[in-house]
This record gives sequence, structure tokens and C-alpha cells, in this order.
Amino acid sequence: MKRFLLPHLICPACLPREYPLTLAAEREAADDIISGTLTCKKCKKRFPIKEGIAHLLPDPDSSPAGAQWRYEEKGMTDRYLWSHYSDLLGDTEIDDSAIQWADCLSRTATAGFDAGCSVGRITFEMASLCHLAVGCDLSHGFIKTARSLAQKRELDFTLPLEGNLIETFHLSLPATWRTDNVEFVIADALRLPFSANSFDQIASLNLLDRVSYPLAHLFEMNRVAASQNASFLFADPFSWSTTAAPEERWLGGTTTGPYTGRGKDNVRALLEGKDGILLPAWTITQTGSHAWKMRTHCNHYEVITSEYLGAKR
Ligand SMILES: C[S@@+](CC[C@H](N)C(=O)[O-])C[C@H]1O[C@@H](n2cnc3c(N)ncnc32)[C@H](O)[C@@H]1O
Repeated sequence: MKRFLLPHLICPACLPREYPLTLAAEREAADDIISGTLTCKKCKKRFPIKEGIAHLLPDPDSSPAGAQWRYEEKGMTDRYLWSHYSDLLGDTEIDDSAIQWADCLSRTATAGFDAGCSVGRITFEMASLCHLAVGCDLSHGFIKTARSLAQKRELDFTLPLEGNLIETFHLSLPATWRTDNVEFVIADALRLPFSANSFDQIASLNLLDRVSYPLAHLFEMNRVAASQNASFLFADPFSWSTTAAPEERWLGGTTTGPYTGRGKDNVRALLEGKDGILLPAWTITQTGSHAWKMRTHCNHYEVITSEYLGAKR
């Protein structure tokens, strides 16, 4: 974990109170802490840093639950690598959604945060535009891969070509991409280990319908975002499922409760200040939809359309 992250860190277990974490580093390489412990000054809970990765879950020993098991399945990291980076792989079928999302990011932000970053494409895009960029995800496999990519700038992975035949891809980050100012941590998008006002560019892409408490996720994103001069890129396919969250917590796709109707309309209203939950209110500056792809094999792709909102305050 790079040292630049330290001033922003707070104890995720003590939220909504914000208490800083104290670092006891065991092994360092330049400004990177390879192993050590972060301890909450208040509750004394300890959060390990292992192989450079900070484990910042409220309960660092917890196992994946609910819909999260899906992301731990064999081959999922490789599928996300293709989805995020296929435009760099020379594949004839590409998913260029990352380029389209990147076009929606602020050109003036200084600190970027990507919640549910998976293998990190949008975090890297933020790093090119900001002084620092942080991605968080619940998946250890995704964060390990994203961090390795930031360090080595290249990796190989495989996907099915057809039947039992496999295709190997070599991913190499373009020389122009910055990786010195990027960091990836294991953290829960419902209890973010960052102090209020930490970031002036935040992104939540294709995450809202995957979390167990969607409104709590938006609340947390709003908390860590700067109260002024902040940009929020939000997108979701709104594939609501009780595997992820009980229906009464969905922010759309239901006929009962406070959030009936379409998810995009409800998220927009919440960002614009409805019920005074996400304050200061945001102004919607961009809307639209982008399609993104997951490759199954060379002749089979799943296409998902995500509706997006760009917001500023
Ligand atoms: C559908 S994927 C989207 C990944 C990426 N944002 C994208 O658009 O390609 C959802 C991601 O969110 C992560 N995730 C799910 N629940 C999470 C949570 N509570 N906190 C952090 N990450 C979470 C998953 O591990 C997965 O990487």
C-alpha cells in the first residue's frame, strides 16, 4: 500500500465516526508498504497489509457472501481483464466501454476513487487525469491482479477459444499510463475506509445492483466525495436481484416501497437531493447508456447495457 493513501484512511468498523488508522510497517520498498498493520486509534481493530495489499474490510477476516461468490469463481478475473482491456489486446471484437466511461470523467479533478473497481481500468484512467487514484473492491483476486498490473505493467491471461482450446492474451499497459499514483485496496463500498471529502472524482460503475444495501453505497460515495467541486460518474444495468439485496432495499425495479419505478430515475432524484439523504445536492450534467461486453469464448459474448449519470456539485 502506497504511503500517499495514509492521510485519507479511517477505521471502517467505527463508521459513522471517523477515526484515523496508525501504521506499523514491517517491510517497505520505496514508498510502498509491503507488510504491516493499520490499527484504529479508537477501537484498536487491526487491518493487515499483506503482499502490499491493505485489507480494510470492517471485519478483515470475513468471507465473500451473497452475490460476491460469483466474482471469486475460476476464470472471472480473466473475463474481467478482457472486458476492461480488450481495446489494448489487438482482439478483433473489442469492448470500448472503458474509453466511453473515461470520456465522462472530469478533466480538473485531483483525487479519484473507483468503487468496485474490479481489475482496475477506470482507476488507471483516473490516474492519468488526477494526482492520485484509488480503486477498491471486495474481491482479493481482482485487487491482487490490478495491483500487480500497476507494478509490472503487463500480464498474461487466458480465455476459452472454443471448447477446450484456450487463447492466451498478453496485456501491456501503454507507456503513457501513470501507475505511480494509483493504489488498489480491499474495502467494502458500504463502509469505505476513507475520510469525508477525500476525493473530487468518484465513480461507481456497475456496482449498485450488486451490493447488499444500495442506498448505503450511495450514502458512502456521497460522504467520501468533496462537498464542492466534485464529479460523480455513476452507471448501472439495474439488474436487481435478491441474491444481492432484499427487494425492499432495491432503488428501482419494484412496485412497492419508497423507490418504485426505474432505478435511473430514483438515483437521479436522490443525487438531486430527494429526502435530503445525499447532500450537498448534485446537479446532473450527463446522461446516457453504454454497452459493455463479457467474453465467454471467441464466438460468444454477453452484452450488458448500463445507464449512466454524470453529476457535479
Ligand atoms: C459488475 S462488477 C463491475 C466492475 C467494474 N466497476 C466494471 O464496471 O467493470 C461489480 C464489482 O463490484 C465488486 N463488489 C461487489 N460488492 C462490493 C462491495 N460491497 N464493495 C466493494 N466492491 C464490491 C465486485 O467484486 C466486482 O468487482
